[in-house]
Amino acid sequence: MAIDSGNIRSNSLEEHWMPFTSNRDYKESPRLMVKAEGLYYTDHHGNKLIDASSGLFCNPAGHSRSEIKEAVANQLEQLDYVQPFQQGFEGSFELARKISKHTPDDLNRIFFTICGSSAVETAIKTAIAYFKAKGEGHRSHIVGRERGYHGMNIGGISVGGMVANRKTFSNILMPNVHHLRHTHLKENLFVKGEPETGSYLADDLERIAANIGPENIAACIVEPVAGSTGTLVPPKGYLKKLREICDKHGILLIFDEVITGWGRMGEPFASQAFDVTPDIMTMAKAITNGVMPLGAVASRESIYDTILDASPTGAIEFFHGYTYSAIPVSMAAGLAMQNIIEKENLFQRSKEMSPYFLDSLFSLKDIDGITDIRGYGMMGGIDINLDERPGKAGYSCFKKLFEAGLSLKATGDCLIVAPPFICEKQHIDEIIEKLRTGITNYFKSK
Ligand SMILES: Cc1ncc(COP(=O)(O)O)c(C=O)c1O
Repeated sequence: MAIDSGNIRSNSLEEHWMPFTSNRDYKESPRLMVKAEGLYYTDHHGNKLIDASSGLFCNPAGHSRSEIKEAVANQLEQLDYVQPFQQGFEGSFELARKISKHTPDDLNRIFFTICGSSAVETAIKTAIAYFKAKGEGHRSHIVGRERGYHGMNIGGISVGGMVANRKTFSNILMPNVHHLRHTHLKENLFVKGEPETGSYLADDLERIAANIGPENIAACIVEPVAGSTGTLVPPKGYLKKLREICDKHGILLIFDEVITGWGRMGEPFASQAFDVTPDIMTMAKAITNGVMPLGAVASRESIYDTILDASPTGAIEFFHGYTYSAIPVSMAAGLAMQNIIEKENLFQRSKEMSPYFLDSLFSLKDIDGITDIRGYGMMGGIDINLDERPGKAGYSCFKKLFEAGLSLKATGDCLIVAPPFICEKQHIDEIIEKLRTGITNYFKSK
């Protein structure tokens, strides 16, 4: 299949095996973006689309930020690459220090990774290494949650709970993994913010602990708000209860904040928004406004100290890292993003816009065929009626939304809306109007 319209040169689409894409269908009728600026994309037909999901939850400061472009260009001029093992450069220390100002409590030791998936693997390995260093090597079990998304590596899909991502690989998943039930309850349909019902679901951790022995569990990992599966907001008290059970049994609590981190919940991290502090926290995406690949893991100081103290001086303490951990271009983008966050008060903007965004999103409730709307902070999910098989309705609707001039992320039959924090009310209005048009056109077309 060749691209023959717009101002893109004729080109073959076959060679690129696209990720998480229906390759055959896409290549019949490609959606190619040629430009991004502020809140808008332009596709190869010259159509403008509003970005309703901040790319893939990663561009809260909007697109094409000159501050980031300049910082990366300058970094390339000065020092393009340095190996991150036994060497380094100033930028990584500066960014780690800045990140630690936003992380809660003493989660002040920052390990850089390449992306969210590698951050999750790092978090799991940190928990295991910590207990080995502490002389509690028997703690090898990890508890995740149904409908969790923790990236695409083996550790991540093992602790994750999105069935389509796991079933093909079910025979090679990590051993000793258990899952809490997910938190999407029928009685909480169309609830804005934290639902009243469901904190009892955290007791699943107690049951798992009773079943295998709490002294064998290293960590429990959850997304504070499950993002990729469609914005499942935790029931009131749920996260606090998880924290209490972890404390009772000496289990580490890991928050995967790859989506919820950096202001999406109206605070630096969901940890502060829900007032629950984990022991280890992952982040990625918005850390560079999405433009350079970067993930990070923040650990409690005591975890870092325990792992370091278990090794003799001069020895590598943690046999882990990546060629692209803390590379200069990503650090430069991260530092520029920190300046934008500070100068433009991005977390506050997110918090202030959230009520308007959520009220607007819930105004779509009257559309026949929408089966649930949920949301917290600057993120919401809209479920649409199943059509024959999971994902069919979601993808068809996504295409109708694209035609209506709206770009967003659809997972299964859920449309996930997560606008950039720099948006104004008029942008929210435009997103909602286009959602209404696209969803209505989808139902009409059936
Ligand atoms: C909570 C969570 N963890 C991990 C990941 C994986 O991140 P990446 O795609 O950067 O590897 C994602 C990606 O969406 C995510 O939402």
